[in-house]
Amino acid sequence: MAREVGEWIDTLRRAQRVTVLTGAGISAESGVPTFRGEGGLWRTYRAEELATPEAFVRDPKLVWEWYDYRRQVVSKAEPNAGHSALVDLESRFAEFLLVTQNVDNLHRRAGSRSVAELHGNLFRARCTREGTIREDLPCPIPEIPPVCGCGALLRPDVVWFGESLPVEQITLAGEAARRSDVMLVVGTSAVVYPAAALPEAAKSNGAFVVEVNLQRTPISPFVDVSIQGPAAEVLPAIVDAL
Ligand code: OAD
Repeated sequence: MAREVGEWIDTLRRAQRVTVLTGAGISAESGVPTFRGEGGLWRTYRAEELATPEAFVRDPKLVWEWYDYRRQVVSKAEPNAGHSALVDLESRFAEFLLVTQNVDNLHRRAGSRSVAELHGNLFRARCTREGTIREDLPCPIPEIPPVCGCGALLRPDVVWFGESLPVEQITLAGEAARRSDVMLVVGTSAVVYPAAALPEAAKSNGAFVVEVNLQRTPISPFVDVSIQGPAAEVLPAIVDAL
């Protein structure tokens, strides 16, 4: 590990603008299951079957039960050393943005401040009629599916397959990626777009791209460094080496 970190760390040391893209893998060591790995199924469902507007229309109770289960798992989880290393990293660069596909809130709980949440947040709900945001739903939710004061259903304030990402967040993320001197891509299978396009956008605009993952992914062939190892070990090692 030390050798893998050692060879390119000068590039990171010299960087002014750093962007980090994270996925479910960074929370794996906090005990939060990833989507496509072991434990990724809930009951018998895959994320793609439940995280859609159609699934919600068909069975809002089932979809909310899944989200409420995930809220409970995440509420009991604690940020890990990988999340903390990114808090440390944020303080070292003139421009820094942490772009996450995670909805688990663990980056903010760890103390990261400059965070773009591309896929929303499990701890927010949104009225399907008025669009108003609620952040005060108890965990677990006493009555599923939860309803807004106006009588309409609430939905999780997350991005589902087939929906657009929040414009402000993806614009910020795209700009940061293109301006980066270095981009770190941590714990994502890099198959869900448009987030998966950010490393390539960074690379084609001259960034040095470093991937941290347990295994190779579709972006591994074009990144500058691909470190295979758990984020909770590799990220603190990177910060130590700095
Ligand atoms: P995935 O479950 O697709 O991928 C997790 C990645 O993390 C895999 O490449 C693993 O090899 C890697 N990984 C697992 N444990 C790790 C560890 N300890 N350290 C480093 N890497 C590790 O999760 P995402 O890429 O985040 O979207 O999935 C992207 C999106 O698909 C999610 O945001 C969600 C999902 O369906 C929506 O719900 C819209």
